[in-house]
Amino acid sequence: MDDLDQRKRGLWGSKVGSIFAATGSAIGLGNIWRFPTKVSENGGAIFVLIYILAVVLIGLTVMLAELVIGRHSQRNPVGAFKNIKPKTPWKFVGYLGVLTGILILSYYTVIAGWAAAYILKTAKGTFRGNITSESVHQVFQEFSGNPVQVTLFFFFAISITCFIVSKGIKSGIERWTKILMPFLFLLIVFLAIRALTLPGASEGISFYLKPDFSKLSGAVVLFALGQAFFSLSLGMGMMITYGSYISKSDNLVSSAGWVCFADSLVAFTAGLIIFPTLAFAGILGKVKGESLIFEGYPLIFSTIPGGYILGTLFFILVLIAAITSTISALEVAVAYFVDERNWSRGKAAWLVGLCAFLLGIPSALSFGGMQVFTKIKVLTRVDFVCANVSPAVGALFICIFIGYAWGIKNAVKEIRSGNPRFRLQPIWVFSVKYLSPIAIIIILYFIKTATG
Ligand code: TRP
Repeated sequence: MDDLDQRKRGLWGSKVGSIFAATGSAIGLGNIWRFPTKVSENGGAIFVLIYILAVVLIGLTVMLAELVIGRHSQRNPVGAFKNIKPKTPWKFVGYLGVLTGILILSYYTVIAGWAAAYILKTAKGTFRGNITSESVHQVFQEFSGNPVQVTLFFFFAISITCFIVSKGIKSGIERWTKILMPFLFLLIVFLAIRALTLPGASEGISFYLKPDFSKLSGAVVLFALGQAFFSLSLGMGMMITYGSYISKSDNLVSSAGWVCFADSLVAFTAGLIIFPTLAFAGILGKVKGESLIFEGYPLIFSTIPGGYILGTLFFILVLIAAITSTISALEVAVAYFVDERNWSRGKAAWLVGLCAFLLGIPSALSFGGMQVFTKIKVLTRVDFVCANVSPAVGALFICIFIGYAWGIKNAVKEIRSGNPRFRLQPIWVFSVKYLSPIAIIIILYFIKTATG
């Protein structure tokens, strides 16, 4: 791609801008909703420990790998592989990413719709006064079992996403994210402090932070790795797309490090809120699964004077964090259709969005909205594939691509263009070529036990 093309395509304005954009994609429901959910289902602290190991040992490696491919090729995921290794099947790794992006969009936006509904509920005062864990549970049951409501909020969330992506006004969004995300972070830190000082909090803290090694299993490792991929938006070409906008003089290693750190910090803090709160309400270990945070967070707001205002604000920020992720998931597919198939941006955004909406209806109705879907737990299953299976396969191929197809020397050269010293080179090379691929293959084997 020549200089002129590159200018048309655009680069992030600054290094900080590029980090914020990638962080905006990474931070979302994955941190605030999915992380606590998975911790609750997979033995608490042991999951947290394995998750941290997964981020440091594999997540960082794959993140850097994707950024390198993106910056070198200056393309969307499919185009990137076509550009570096033309006329080879490598492009299918890109297709897998585009497909996974659409699937993620289909059910992730359902949960974003829940958050939107909870803004209204909290603002209306549904959770004011003497609420109990039973009443909060009931509110959730009634809402999630109402097919019309759930679908409307889902439709709302997907429409905003399509609208933003079709207008290409991501830069405006990024400016807002820069202001709002730190705000979300301050709010969750405040809530965490409140939660930690609740009576009975210590039981929640030990569930969350004191690992019980007897709970370690193949499934826990699989889910922890899946959560790391999901939360960091890895394995599906997202970071290839982002890398393609990063300037040659930026240091990719520190960018990857920051994104991983910030993302994990937010997830970790979300856990500090939810588990003490559940212990305080006496329902630790009793509520689990996708509804966890919708039954947990309202309880903490009721312990704070004026808490429903904070609660409303909280769900607004959660919705924004979710939307910054959905626009980037949609962007992966849109970038593909615009670059490779010459579609207009508007057509690509709305058509892919429509597709995701139709695909997502079974997920939306899988919490009581419609019995066939409730029985198969459609959302849970789609989520399983999109977080644990597909990104792991994608990440495996990305490592093999760098280590053995494109060539590690070329990748290192690309990294060195913005980081001449690249002190972590030996570790990264070892991880891309051996550690990460082998670990992923072993962990993928646990799918058998997890789906058992
Ligand atoms: N990382 C996002 C979150 O934690 C979710 C996500 C996973 C994602 N894969 C993605 C977002 C791909 C955009 C593109 O909320």
